[in-house]
Formats: sequence, structure tokens, C-alpha cells
Amino acid sequence: MPEHSQYNYRVVLQFTIATVFWGIIGMAVGVLIAAQLIWPALNFDTAWLTYGRLRPLHTNGVVFAFGGSALMATSLFVVQRTSQARLISDKLASFVFWGWQAIIVLAVITLPMGMTTSKEYAELEWPISILIAIVWVAYAILFFGTIAKRQQRHIYVANWFFGAFIIAVAILHIVNNLAIPVTAGKSYSIYAGTVDAMVQWWWGHNAVGFFLTAGFLGIMYYFVPKQAERPVYSYRLSVVHFWALIAVYVWAGPHHLHYSALPDWTQNLGMVMSIILIAPSWGGMINGIMTLSGAWDKLRTDPILKFLVVSLSFYGMATFEGPMMSIKSVNALSHMTDWTVGHVHAGALGWVAMISIGAVYHMMPILYGLRPGQVYSVKLIDLHFWMATIGTVLYIVSMWVNGLMQGLMWRAVNDDGTLTYTFMESIEASQSGYIVRFIGGFIFLGGMVVMAWNLWKTRELALREAAESSQDTDKAREALA
Ligand code: HEM
Ligand code: HEM
Repeated sequence: MPEHSQYNYRVVLQFTIATVFWGIIGMAVGVLIAAQLIWPALNFDTAWLTYGRLRPLHTNGVVFAFGGSALMATSLFVVQRTSQARLISDKLASFVFWGWQAIIVLAVITLPMGMTTSKEYAELEWPISILIAIVWVAYAILFFGTIAKRQQRHIYVANWFFGAFIIAVAILHIVNNLAIPVTAGKSYSIYAGTVDAMVQWWWGHNAVGFFLTAGFLGIMYYFVPKQAERPVYSYRLSVVHFWALIAVYVWAGPHHLHYSALPDWTQNLGMVMSIILIAPSWGGMINGIMTLSGAWDKLRTDPILKFLVVSLSFYGMATFEGPMMSIKSVNALSHMTDWTVGHVHAGALGWVAMISIGAVYHMMPILYGLRPGQVYSVKLIDLHFWMATIGTVLYIVSMWVNGLMQGLMWRAVNDDGTLTYTFMESIEASQSGYIVRFIGGFIFLGGMVVMAWNLWKTRELALREAAESSQDTDKAREALA
């Protein structure tokens, strides 16, 4: 592809291709572990194929490889276009891309080997976690450096969200990963007991709040108005909900530790802050959806817009469900059940994956030098949209049913005070839900493959057009000679 003179599109294209690639790999591992929960023999008695090792591979693959690449692609695209400035350094951009890919490859190798800190979403051992800090700081320099040399006085709100995501993740990652190395592949956290749990879920919940939410809201604020060709519904609301979100998210972590050794007042504070979080979350969702005012008819013909708008609906759903689940009495029912897993994937598939997919379809023709919206097949995007929606719905509905059933079965007691059901009985009762989840995940993954094919053909289209236009230039030159 020809180099773009005004912007560095090369790194954006690299990260966009990485998004699709790691999306397929990470979700394929998700489908495999979903299958293992139905047919345990699928680990083939091989240590590195066991559920316990593949599960963190799935979460790292989808959250950091797929989601991380999507965030880097979109943030570097948006910061250049809204600042009307090229990234400060092509070399630094290349370092960030290859550094991030190296981290992912190291994760793909070490996690199945069983090397882990055992902290959820922070499993990678100390040498990799240092590398993450270095690449992340380089990414921050690239992003904020470009903001500093912007040609526009105004900093568009999408960049505020990306900026907050970059700063918060740097702080959270470094503080949570402080550890004492024992060997090259093993370290122990500097925190102990309850303090370790608190720091871990301060990170864990803010990984949700800043990695899986603030960054993707940055995507929303640029791509929804662009695709709908409408201004943001309320700029004032975007600023208010930005500060409210930043101020409240950091307090909500203790809702992951209800009824634990954590002091009661801390748990209650986490619960109250989580309920307050509905307000800024819904402020963002409403702002995104209302941006379509006067452009609703576009939903009939534009499947990219469908991805973006439906992702906001799932975001609204997950951010209503989350605060409900953080109420202690509700959490007593939902905690440790598949309800949590359903909630996670309402956010992960419905919100994070759908909005990323919409952004990728928006960017790809531009990155390939085609007209905006010029893809190989719009029908295939529509097919992908329906596969993603049906897949997500099957996933979360089956997990709701399973979760409620498990929670109720575990707490059922007979008149004499003994448990009505054994744990095994609840697992047996969950089988049909696991089968539906597996089918849903498989359909969602199928949609990702359709996307890869469509984008591959779009690339061919771009190459053909580029060849034709250079032939035209040759012909014009001959005619003039
Ligand atoms: C084809 C799509 C997917 C399938 C089939 C799938 C399947 C699974 C399965 C089976 C688990 C383990 C649940 C358990 O231990 O009971 C899981 C966990 C998880 N997945 Fe996925 N997944 C998919 C996509 C995604 C995506 C796109 C993301 C994020 C962007 C994601 C994020 C997570 C997270 C964070 C967990 C851990 C949840 C927890 O600890 O409660 N998944 N997934
Ligand atoms: C207002 C917003 C939200 C609140 C208050 C909230 C609250 C909660 C609660 C109470 C849990 C269950 C904790 C437990 O019982 O262990 C949970 C789990 C989780 N939520 Fe949310 N949630 C919100 C939004 C989201 C969104 C938008 C996403 C994803 C994009 C998400 C991803 C997760 C993940 C990954 C977990 C599982 C953590 C684990 O145990 O591994 N949440 N959330």
C-alpha cells in the first residue's frame, strides 16, 4: 500500500490487521475452552491444553491482544485525524507495534507452559510485565506527543477518553505488578493477603473501567458520529460523563470481594460507588445512541452503523447489570456462578468486540486508500452483524439461565438443614446451557472469519484499483507525449 503523506497509516493498518488476527485466535481458544466444559476429554491429557492454562490464554488473547490492538489502531488513527498531525515518530510507532506483538507472543508461549503470577488479567510473569510497562510508556509518548504538536487548538473528546485509558492503565499495571522475582519465570507479589486482593481488584475492576470501557468510549466518540454523519448529540454531556466516569470507577473494585476478609465498610463503599456508576455509564450510552437522532433511517442500509449502535445497547445492558450484581444480596446469588460469565461477555462480545468490529470496517477502506465505505461486500458485513448479534445473545442468555440456576441450587436447603443438591448435580444441570454457549461462541467466531475474508477481498480490490489508476496515469502520460 502507498505511504500516506500526511498521516502514519502504516501502524494503524498493522494494528487493525492484528485486531482481526488475534480476535480469531483469542475467540477460537474461547470456543475450545467452552467445548472443554462440555467434553473434558478435549484436553487430550496434555498439560498445556488443560482448561486452567487455556483460560488465561483466552482472556489475555481477547482482552489485550484483540482489544489492545483495536484500541491502539483506533487511538492512533483518531489522534492523527483530529489533531491534523502525523504521529511524532514512525520509528517509535513501529516499536510500539512490534513490542506489543512480542508481548502477545510471549503470553502465548508462557501461559500454556503454566508460567503465571496467578493474578487474574495480570498473569504474565515479571520480565514480560516489565516489557509491557516499557511498550506502554512508548505508546503514551507517541499519543501525547502527537496531541502536543496538534494543528487544532481543541482536543477532541475521543482523545480525552483514550488519554485517560493510557494513563490509568500505566499506573494500575505498574502498582499491581510490583513483585519480588525468585527466578526468571517466577515472582511473588510484594503485597500479602487481603491487601494483595484489594490491590488486585483495584487493578481488575479498572482494567474493566479503563481498558474495556474508557478506551472503547473513545472509539464510540469518534466512529459513531463519523459513521452516522451527525455531530455528537451533546458535547457538554460528553465532558460531564468523562469526569464522572473517571472519578467514580476507581472506587468500585471491592464489589469483586464481597463477603471476603476485606473490611465491611470497604465492601459497602464499593457497592455504593458501583450503583452511582450507572449515571455516567448511561450518560455515555445515551450520548452515543442519541447521536443518531435524525439519522435512524441509515440503520436500514448501513451494517457498520448497526454494529456501533447495537454495541451501545449491550454497553447499556452490561452497565445496568453490573451495578445490580454489586448489591451485596444480589452478589450472594450471582458470585461464582455463570451469571458473572454472562455479564462479562455482554460487555466483552456485545460492547467491546462489536464496537471494535464497527471501527475496523470503518477504517479499513480508508487505510487501503479506497473511498470511505468501499468494501468488497456490504452484504457480508450484514451477515457478520447478524452472526455476532445471535452469537452474543445465545452466549449471555444461556449463562443467565445457568447462573441463576446454579445460585439457587447451591443455596437450597432441606428442612433438616442439609443441602438439597450436591455441587455435581448443579454441574450436570448446567450442561445444556454450556452447549448453547458453545454454539453461540462458534457462530460469533464464524462471523470473525467472514470479516477476515471480506477484508482480504477488500485488499485485493484496493490493489486492483491502485494498478488501474497507475495504468491510467501511464496512458495519460503516453497521450500527452
Ligand atoms: C467466541 C467468543 C468467545 C467465547 C466462546 C468465550 C468463551 C469463554 C469461556 C468458556 C470462558 C470461561 C468461563 C468460565 O470459566 O466459566 C471465558 C472467560 C472470559 N472471557 Fe470469553 N469468550 C469469547 C469471547 C470473549 C471476548 C471477545 C472477550 C473480551 C473482549 C472475552 C473475555 C473473557 C473474560 C474477561 C473472561 C473471564 C471471565 C471471568 O473471570 O468471570 N471473551 N470466555
Ligand atoms: C457500571 C458498570 C459495571 C459495574 C458496576 C460492574 C460490576 C460487576 C460486578 C458486581 C461483577 C461481579 C463480581 C463478582 O461477583 O465476582 C462484575 C464482574 C465483571 N465485569 Fe462488570 N460491571 C460493570 C460493567 C462492566 C463492563 C462494561 C464490562 C466489560 C466490558 C465488565 C466486565 C466484567 C468482568 C471481566 C468481570 C469478571 C471479573 C472476574 O471475576 O474475573 N463489567 N462486574
